[in-house]
This record gives sequence, structure tokens and C-alpha cells, in this order.
Amino acid sequence: MVEFTINDKQISVENGTTILNAARMNGIKIPNLCFDKRLRPYGGCRLCVVEVEGMPRLFAACSTPAAPGWAVKTDTPKLRKVRQTVIELLLVHHPLDCPVCDKAGECDLQDLAYEYGKPEGRFIRHRKEAPPDVRGPLIELTSNRCILCGKCVRICSEHQGRGALGLIGRGFPTVVQPAFGEILECDYCGQCVDVCPTGALLSKPFKFKARAWFLEEKETICPFCGCGCTLTLGVREGKILRSRGKEDVGRNKGNLCGRGRFGFDFIYSDTRLKTPLIKKDGAFVPATWDEALEYISGELKKIINTNGRESIGAIGSHRCTNEDNFMLRKFMLNVIGSNNMDSSASFGYAKVQKALDAAFGLKTHSINMDSPLDKDLILVLESDISITHPVFGLNILQAKRNGSQVIVADCRETKLTRHSSKHLKMKEGTSTAFLNGIMKVVLDRELCDRAAVSNITGFPGFEQGLEDYTPAKVSLITGIPEEDIISAAEAIANARNRMISFTLGV
Ligand code: FES
Repeated sequence: MVEFTINDKQISVENGTTILNAARMNGIKIPNLCFDKRLRPYGGCRLCVVEVEGMPRLFAACSTPAAPGWAVKTDTPKLRKVRQTVIELLLVHHPLDCPVCDKAGECDLQDLAYEYGKPEGRFIRHRKEAPPDVRGPLIELTSNRCILCGKCVRICSEHQGRGALGLIGRGFPTVVQPAFGEILECDYCGQCVDVCPTGALLSKPFKFKARAWFLEEKETICPFCGCGCTLTLGVREGKILRSRGKEDVGRNKGNLCGRGRFGFDFIYSDTRLKTPLIKKDGAFVPATWDEALEYISGELKKIINTNGRESIGAIGSHRCTNEDNFMLRKFMLNVIGSNNMDSSASFGYAKVQKALDAAFGLKTHSINMDSPLDKDLILVLESDISITHPVFGLNILQAKRNGSQVIVADCRETKLTRHSSKHLKMKEGTSTAFLNGIMKVVLDRELCDRAAVSNITGFPGFEQGLEDYTPAKVSLITGIPEEDIISAAEAIANARNRMISFTLGV
């Protein structure tokens, strides 16, 4: 642990913690523009400089690890002067177009300029000549507002694993762009829009819809893949105008995918069913909610009286919140008196759940969103998790960056195969043979505690079932070279902790 002080407050943090992170953990604000806790320190903007007693120079708090005994000061007249100069330099080319910029009101640069006072304007202003790139469907790039903090470039490549943006050019004319100035083609997660500290990257669907200060923010759960990400909706006069992720909010910790961020417009579709319909004489007729509820409860009563309570069933959905599904369950058990319930989620997962229950006595899944983060090895089976469950997929990428081994067995090229430690290119639909092969290698090479597994009920039959699955045979079935099957089995068995991850499609 490192003991030191920030503004005379005693701080104790783990070795290697930067001054900025230590300050954030202790509720101390240090201004910054190029920092994001999901990214490696960059040290580009120099707004986060701090003074250390007895040291002749200033330190960038975001990239300087705290040292024992240091007395750090974050707000002194000297620092205010330095920060004001940094802002002054940034404003040399940043246009003062806040009245027409969508970011106004939630622009970090604007806030800092306000906080540190009017710059003296000692430098000749020199506008960057870079026309806005509005060609993409969802994200608009206005390079002359860019302060080259590189956050968008880094979030896209380091965190999102996409690398669709780059800093192009050298010196003053440098701009953020896709390669060769092409139209931005990416995951459209919009994380770059969220992290941009100015109005250089903006959401096209939200453009000119409302000023930030007119928006009321409401949190809700994303209705798409079932990861349960928290969306922060910007609402004006009852209408949802945008969706964004907020740092540390929700189990997604502010990360969103394209569906969560841009996919909410379906709720305003003209073809959406907006009122209940009751079928009368073979045709659907619009009805009020009171009429519909009256009708449903009447029909339910009739069915209960004629066929009994158990004749009624209900289907929930993984797109609903847990609370919604819980209410449905309560309704079925306590009001209807029937235990006949299912969910669209069971189409894919019921068998897995049964197997988990049979093997480990687990009634729920044994993983959560953060599970990949502390695993030494992750095996992904025939699943394009970055598409089906994008935010969970981000945690697998994060685990890889933290040093986990990620083995992906898939016939396709996916984002995860590109970022994997090993891509086992297998024939489609051969996961079962592959897993049998892995288990056979593990048992044959005594890579597990044989005495312990032998006590599992049904173990002899299980082992017998694996007899045919030699690496040679599995290689024939799956197309994976024998040596890769063996080394994957060894890696899986030798990992201190491991996770197998699969989803729709396996
Ligand atoms: Fe430290 Fe930008 S936040 S240099």
C-alpha cells in the first residue's frame, strides 16, 4: 500500500495507483479531459497537473503513480494559472460555436473554460479547416471542434476492440477520422460520442433535438438482449430524445451497444400497436384500456370456471425486466393460481439450466456480468457474444486485456475470434464432440482430481461415453487439429479458474 496525502487528506491506495485514481476514490476532483477509467493513461491534455511538495515540476495526475510520503496539492494559484493556459491553448483552434453546438451545456471544455475563467487570448486564433463529416448514419464528426484528446480513438480500439477511428496527420492539421477518410463503419456503439469532451462527435439522430438543459434524465433497463444494461434516457415533454450510458451507472457501468443507444426509436413507429384491440365478429376493434382489462379478466374467469386454473399459462420474456417477470409470476401464482409459466429465454437456455442443476445443483446461472473479469481462461463456444450480448462481450475483451487466455471455438470470424488468444476454427455445430474431446484428454492425462470426480454419480458411464472421442476422432469431426485440441484441454484444465461462455446459436 502507498500512504500519501492529497490536499492534506491522508490517502492509502494500492501500489501503482495513479494520483488521479486515488483522488477519484476519495472524492477529490482533479480536472481532466483525456482521462477515462476504462482506458490506459494517455497524459495528453495536461489539465490534470498537480503539485507535489518539494518537487520542482508539475505531474500529470492521470499517469503518475502515487509515491509514499508525497504531499499532493490539486488546486493552487500556480495550477489554476497553468490550467487556464492549457485551456487558452486549446481554444486557439476550437471554434466558439457553443450557440449552435449540441454539446453545449454538457461540454467538458466549456465547463472548464467557465471554471478557470476567461482566457487572456494571448495567442493568434487559428481555426482548423476540417468540414464536418455527416456521411455516417448515426455519428457525426466535426473535426474543427476536436481537441485531440484521443479518447474516441482509444475507447474504440482499446475498449471496444474495433479500432474504427484514428488520429490522422501530424501536428496542427491532425484530425480524428476512419482510415483513408472513409465513412465511419463500426459497431455504432456510440461510446465515442459519450466520451468526447467537446462537440466533435455527436449523435446524428439527436442533433438539434433539444438543449441538454431541457432534458429530464430517466434511467431504465434496455429492452434488447437481456444483459439488463441501464440506459439513461433524455426525455423532453414526455418524448424520449436520446439514450446514453453514464459512467458507473448500472451493471453495464455506462457501456452501451448500438441497440441500446440508437435502437429506441421503434417506440415511436407509426405502425406500432398503441391501443388494445379486441376481436369482434372476426375483426380487431380498438378498445380502451379499461375495456381491455375488463374483457381479459372476464375471459380468464370464464376459462377458470370451465377448465380450471391450471388451464391458463403465461409466457414472460428476457426482454422484460426481472421485476416485470417477477410480477407476472406473482400474478400467475397468487391471482390466477396456476404454475404454468415459461419464458422465451428458455428456448435457448432451459436445457443449460437443467444441466447446471443436474451437475452442480444450481438453480440459477453461476455467472454474472463481471464473471469474465477474474478468470484466467475463458472458452467461448460457437457464439458471437459481441453481437448477441455486446456489453458482456466487452468484459471478455477486458479480461483478455487483463491477461486472461481467451480461446474461441467457432467456424466464423468474429470480433472475439480476432481478439482471442487462440481461434479454434471448427466445423459448424461440432461443439459437443469438441467438449467430449476436451474431457477425454483431461481424464486420460490425469489433468483433474480423478479421485474426486470418480465419486460423482454416474461417472463410470460418463467416462465410457467419452471412449470414442480421441483427439484424432474429434479432429476429424470438428476440423480442429489434434494438437490444438490437446493444448486447449491442457490450458483449460491447468487454469486456476475458468469459464465457458456460449449463447444463442451454439
Ligand atoms: Fe491527465 Fe489529460 S487527464 S493529461
